[in-house]
Amino acid sequence: MKIGNLVGLVGWRGMVGSVLIDRMQAECDFDVIEPIFFSTSNAGGAAPAFAKNETTLQDAFNVDALKRCDIIISAQGGDYTTAMFPKLRASGWAGHWIDAASTLRMEKDAVIILDPVNMPVIQSALINNGKNWIGGNCTVSCMLMGVGALYKAGLVEWMSTQTYQAASGGGAQHMRELLTQYGTLNAEVKALLDDPKSAILEIDRKVIDKQRSLIPAETANFGVPLGGSLIPWIDKDLGIGKTRDESGWGQSKEEWKGMAETNKILGQGEGYGSKAIPVDGFCVRVGAMRCHSQALTFKLKKNVPVADIEAMIGADNAWVKLVPNTREATIQGLTPVAVTGTMTIPVGRVRKLAMGPEYLGAFTVGDQLLWGAAEPLRRMLRILLQA
Ligand code: HSE
Repeated sequence: MKIGNLVGLVGWRGMVGSVLIDRMQAECDFDVIEPIFFSTSNAGGAAPAFAKNETTLQDAFNVDALKRCDIIISAQGGDYTTAMFPKLRASGWAGHWIDAASTLRMEKDAVIILDPVNMPVIQSALINNGKNWIGGNCTVSCMLMGVGALYKAGLVEWMSTQTYQAASGGGAQHMRELLTQYGTLNAEVKALLDDPKSAILEIDRKVIDKQRSLIPAETANFGVPLGGSLIPWIDKDLGIGKTRDESGWGQSKEEWKGMAETNKILGQGEGYGSKAIPVDGFCVRVGAMRCHSQALTFKLKKNVPVADIEAMIGADNAWVKLVPNTREATIQGLTPVAVTGTMTIPVGRVRKLAMGPEYLGAFTVGDQLLWGAAEPLRRMLRILLQA
């Protein structure tokens, strides 16, 4: 049965929502849908200028208003999903729910959407009447857009990832806090910086003194200074248990997601009757703005020449870009500054490691708000409209 094109948009004014709307406009998605704009705070207000027939903002907490939609896309966040999704389904709504929040990701009837990587999983769920389509963790989605080819080829025995995650992963306020901290630190030593004869250790001492004396309001979002530092913990503390399964083996929740979501996206592991591929490592917050970077270590199932691996990675999808493993190409093309605001997923530093011919290293960068959040949602909308 053809899916209708009345599409509810919730959370379209936030950071992920705004990137989503920009991408939908750039790809002319509004030409093929009738959007209904919802609001959690301004129901009855005017919908944005590019609305079509539905020119009034609808109440995002009104089940009857939501029920009209054939498809709902939410970038409103996990609390909203927790509050409204069960009510909506309990009311008998059988439409399609596309969501950026993590709340429903690991539910049995939810698919983590990343169609350039897992279109077969999406298609099989569609045939089986799937209705819940959830965007993946940004780090996992960006990683699989880069090196998904190795997984598709069945080459990965295990993978370890060390991440360098941008402030945007925390949200808009986190980005502001990071920049404010940079400004505060600069102001602290500006006079010394302006004097070429000043002593660098004097500057260094003043900076660390300032970092250590930031008041709670200056670190309200990250909890500790991030500007000029890093934070090797992202998301909740899962605790230390006796076994890995019991409570996550001392992982942060972000680290736990790496294995759970990678396998679920690929349609393997628990719930799919196959063995999960081990994925583990450390997730670290760094002072980048909106690109997540990752250093990857693979143990491959067999020795494959680097040239073949590079060819495989480069040919996997339209967005991945192989960066030659040279200093110049790397510093020009494989950084958050080079990638921010683009759909490109560069993969570089591809080389065999000293541990043996089956050990492969790679480095990848992705815009956390594009492939890491908004893009898979709008692509799922297109898939549904074409189904
Ligand atoms: N959890 C990610 C981060 C963002 O904090 O960077 C969203 O997937």
